[in-house]
Amino acid sequence: MNTRETLRINGEGHLEIGGCDAVALAERFSTPLYVMDEQYIRAMCRIYRKTLSEEYGGNGLVLYASKAFSCLAVYKIAAQEGIGADVVSGGELYTALKAGFPADKMCLHGNNKLPRELKEALDAGVGLIVVDDYAELDMLDALAAERGMRQDILLRVNPGVEAHTHHFIQTAKTDSKFGFALADGTAEKITCYALGKKNVRLRGYHCHIGSQIFEKQSFALAADKMMAFMADMRDKTGFAADTLNLGGGFGIWYTDEDVRFTPEEYASYLKTLISEVKKKAKAYALKEPFLLIEPGRSIVGEAGVTLYTVGAVKEIPGVKKYVAVDGGMFDNPRYALYQAKYTALLANRAAESADETVTVAGKCCESGDIVCADVKLPAARRGDILAVLSTGAYNYSMASNYNRNAVPPVVLVKEGRAEYIVRPQTYEDIVRNDVLPDDLQ
Ligand code: LLP
Repeated sequence: MNTRETLRINGEGHLEIGGCDAVALAERFSTPLYVMDEQYIRAMCRIYRKTLSEEYGGNGLVLYASKAFSCLAVYKIAAQEGIGADVVSGGELYTALKAGFPADKMCLHGNNKLPRELKEALDAGVGLIVVDDYAELDMLDALAAERGMRQDILLRVNPGVEAHTHHFIQTAKTDSKFGFALADGTAEKITCYALGKKNVRLRGYHCHIGSQIFEKQSFALAADKMMAFMADMRDKTGFAADTLNLGGGFGIWYTDEDVRFTPEEYASYLKTLISEVKKKAKAYALKEPFLLIEPGRSIVGEAGVTLYTVGAVKEIPGVKKYVAVDGGMFDNPRYALYQAKYTALLANRAAESADETVTVAGKCCESGDIVCADVKLPAARRGDILAVLSTGAYNYSMASNYNRNAVPPVVLVKEGRAEYIVRPQTYEDIVRNDVLPDDLQ
């Protein structure tokens, strides 16, 4: 296994994360358990912020895309690191506010924001709202008027960049539920429409070309198209956009098929974007815009490890070996949704050679409940602690109570200390909102 400062194999041959022995964590907190490495999250926030400051004079803001992992503690960490947040629902907004996150450093997204969510965002004083639809713009304008305010907005533009990533997580093709396309002129039309609204102030544009993308050229191309569009709008309408949000999507390491960056190396994605923006600002005689980026996965993904206990081990001769764990698609639905690949190891036997290829299955009542397929492990036995790496993004945030399994708790580790940031659910929590109407009593 490749190791890093806060994720390594210790002298006992156990996996260690944030200075905590994973086997001891499993004993203390039980499994399944999400473990998040605070130092890694902070290092990622810092590197993006530092890069923006050094390469772009700090004329911008890093927004943590909190859909990747949302809970009070992570907003607190992001706020302490001086970055902003991207929120996409009333629930994320509520959690961020509850953590004391400054509303003016938040950006609200969504292709179908509810009237209630727009009201909540206006009342909280959210800095930017990214508009995705005409009716939404009308609604927002009216709600802002009622409150006697003028809300800053961006328009979500679909630059039509095809990024090489999993089909289901591409969001910026022309066929997309998100945004206004450049190609068919709808982005231009909504610009003119937005400029006519009195209670919103159009600041600029947003795009997001997809997720888990490694090709820096795709990001550069999107930046180029957005800058060209800004120049075009200036020439046609006189509107000089001053803000450009280029979204997130930077690819991270899941298996050795992926590049593995150090936090410092992640800066290269942002450097590519910045250099393209600067180049095009010159070429199109535009003022360099206030630049926003929205990395989610790359801030928290590699910070996370999920620990499970091995239960049934079933070998089907000539077919495959299943290693079943006490979690499954209720804590990590990404294999079921995207056939996502992961690296797994036995945390209690991490130094042993991994010479069996197995499929890690969950405990849900369906065949597609796989945590990861074709992973290399030493011969696993009941009671071993299995660790799946790079589970910090889109695992806890997409967890469910399927089969009435409890969503596992999350612990934050740092320098050998571990504390809950999300407590375990009890059976009582699972039935908390169930109600028996009178005739069923
Ligand atoms: N900004 C916008 C507008 C987005 O839609 C997203 C992700 C991000 C930023 C953050 O992208 P990131 O840096 O995390 O790639 N559930 C899927 C990923 C869906 C991504 C949705 N939008 C998965 O598990 O792979």
